Amino acid sequence: MKISLTVNGAQRAFDVHPGDTLLEVLRREGYKGVKKGCGAGDCGACAVLLDGRAVNSCLVLAGKADGSEVLTIEGLSKDGALHPLQEAFLDEGAVQCGYCTPGMIIASLDLLTHHPDPNEEEIREGIAGNLCRCTGYTKELRAIQAAAEKMREARHG
Ligand code: FES
Ligand code: FES
Repeated sequence: MKISLTVNGAQRAFDVHPGDTLLEVLRREGYKGVKKGCGAGDCGACAVLLDGRAVNSCLVLAGKADGSEVLTIEGLSKDGALHPLQEAFLDEGAVQCGYCTPGMIIASLDLLTHHPDPNEEEIREGIAGNLCRCTGYTKELRAIQAAAEKMREARHG
């Protein structure tokens, strides 16, 4: 079957099998920033924005996403400039092996889009579905706080 998705702003058509997950289709089509960890909804490595909300793409059948808008980590930078979340993760040393990072940043983007000034507990909740084996989460927390501040400043000029 054919499905049509808008991925990172570009409309595209994909041939998919009925059992294909969105994760499988995205990786097959070159969006390798979308990581496969557990494949079962437990780690958050495969998170993408689907119509503006973070989902684990390993749990979404590609056929069900037909007609949707998808944002992957590849779509975050603009004109070669990193998104404030990407910059903050680098600045705070929140990227070690990096495997969890795309999913963590996508979950954080969802959080900050809907909740621009979260407290620490709200940030922890926002990334509760994203496992990181390397960092202990403190650096991610700091990075998300720093990015939130930058994004608020940008919004208010
Ligand atoms: S690969 Fe999807 S949640 Fe782990
Ligand atoms: S940086 Fe390695 S799993 Fe998070």
